[in-house]
Amino acid sequence: MGVGVSGWPLARAVSRAGQLGVVSATCLDTVMVRRLQDGDPGGHTRRALAHFPSQDAVREVLDRYFLPGGRAAGQPYRRVPLPGVPLQPENERLTVMANFVEVWLAREGHGGTVGVNLLTKVQLQTLPGLYGAVLAGVHVVLMGAGIPRDVPQVLDRFAAGQAATLRLDVTGAAAPTVLTFDPASLGLEGVPLARPAFLPVVSSNVLAAMLARRGEGAVQGFVVEGPTAGGHSAPPRGDRALDERGEPRYGPKDEVDLQALAALGLPFWLAGGTGSPEALRDAWARGAAGVQVGTLFAYCEESGLRADLRDRALRGARRGELRVRTDPHASPTGFPFKVVMLPGTLADPDVYAARTRRCDLGYLRESYARPDGLVGFRCPAEPVGEYTRKGGRAEDTRGRMCLCNALLADVGLGQTQPQGPEPALLTSGDDLRSAGRWPHGQVPDSGPGQDTSGYAALDALRYLLD
Ligand SMILES: Cc1cc2nc3c(=O)[nH]c(=O)nc-3n(C[C@H](O)[C@H](O)[C@H](O)COP(=O)(O)O)c2cc1C
Repeated sequence: MGVGVSGWPLARAVSRAGQLGVVSATCLDTVMVRRLQDGDPGGHTRRALAHFPSQDAVREVLDRYFLPGGRAAGQPYRRVPLPGVPLQPENERLTVMANFVEVWLAREGHGGTVGVNLLTKVQLQTLPGLYGAVLAGVHVVLMGAGIPRDVPQVLDRFAAGQAATLRLDVTGAAAPTVLTFDPASLGLEGVPLARPAFLPVVSSNVLAAMLARRGEGAVQGFVVEGPTAGGHSAPPRGDRALDERGEPRYGPKDEVDLQALAALGLPFWLAGGTGSPEALRDAWARGAAGVQVGTLFAYCEESGLRADLRDRALRGARRGELRVRTDPHASPTGFPFKVVMLPGTLADPDVYAARTRRCDLGYLRESYARPDGLVGFRCPAEPVGEYTRKGGRAEDTRGRMCLCNALLADVGLGQTQPQGPEPALLTSGDDLRSAGRWPHGQVPDSGPGQDTSGYAALDALRYLLD
């Protein structure tokens, strides 16, 4: 998970160059309303919104969130209401629109292929998010961090202009809750749309085989992601004990049998430490159609990462001073999460200890059955007392980080809390160690000898493909 790192400018640059550029759908409703509150620099969001089918809905959003001159110094962002069950119309509409905007902008001005990447775990926003992306003509949907078993039928139904449903996992409930999104809510019932290809992100043959069995045409291929990849990874399948550094131990049981995968007859792409020309050649040699690369592109100029964080991390990595830790506790989801050990971010124990716990964005909350029969939400990174009052275990709160707030801070959209600005937390794959080999460039005002990121997405593509 990252938020806005693979935003529309990066996806667009990659797509224009003839590859598949992918936008991240994580927290996009918040990303959109925060860009609007920062005055919508360049007018991009409003340019895309002008193409949204319901201009009444657009007017409502602009009236509520757009600040022509941006926020005053120190003014906190107005937040999107915390989502619940059922999703309120405002949340639903903001999510549809935000996904529409991101895909629309990534596709603007060229005929290349654009994908969208959703986290299966972030369930409440999945249906409106997918609909918004499909409405903007997304070509490929990628979903990992969970088992996206219902998504092929959702895409089929949206393409036919029909309502679709998805099961929400509710801890402790006898039956899942059913979520619904109906295009009729936007007056678009029966409007046919192109059905994008669906590529689940898998880290096991069993999961790939299960998804492939869903029926002819349901799944168009796979991304096979290993534990060196940036963001979340699947937990190890064998030994659950941590190594001497407190990190998960991966072993042979975690390796995907690519021959067995190829026997499913669908194309696949390898992700996780595959951002080098050698890894790409190796992937081809092993029968893959190509690679999915995150870390190399996260540090290029078109990435959404704040320039100061990007340059500090890249310099540190090139000097061999920065470690990437696979943190088994940081993510509220319980999945291992890759953390760049950059001073001044939440990875720094002092910064972590100084932050006041709060849950005001709520994307990673777990749904649970409340004693009164309703669906409740809790996050192990919220204040400990609140979490345990909702039936959560105190030991599950240890070391948890508020990824929602931190990852928004990474891309310059961090909240100003009463105690000050939210700290950032960088994620990257183990490939950051190879930063010394990546294209080097010079940012004009960085001074002589200053080694900054300075490379464009196109340079990264040339490095991989030449
Ligand atoms: C900074 C960063 C942000 C990422 N954001 C997302 C995301 O929002 N959604 C997602 O599914 N994957 C995300 N990923 C994972 C990538 O899609 C990709 O699978 C992974 O980075 C590939 O491995 P690599 O990091 O070794 O290149 C992110 C990775 C990085 C490094």
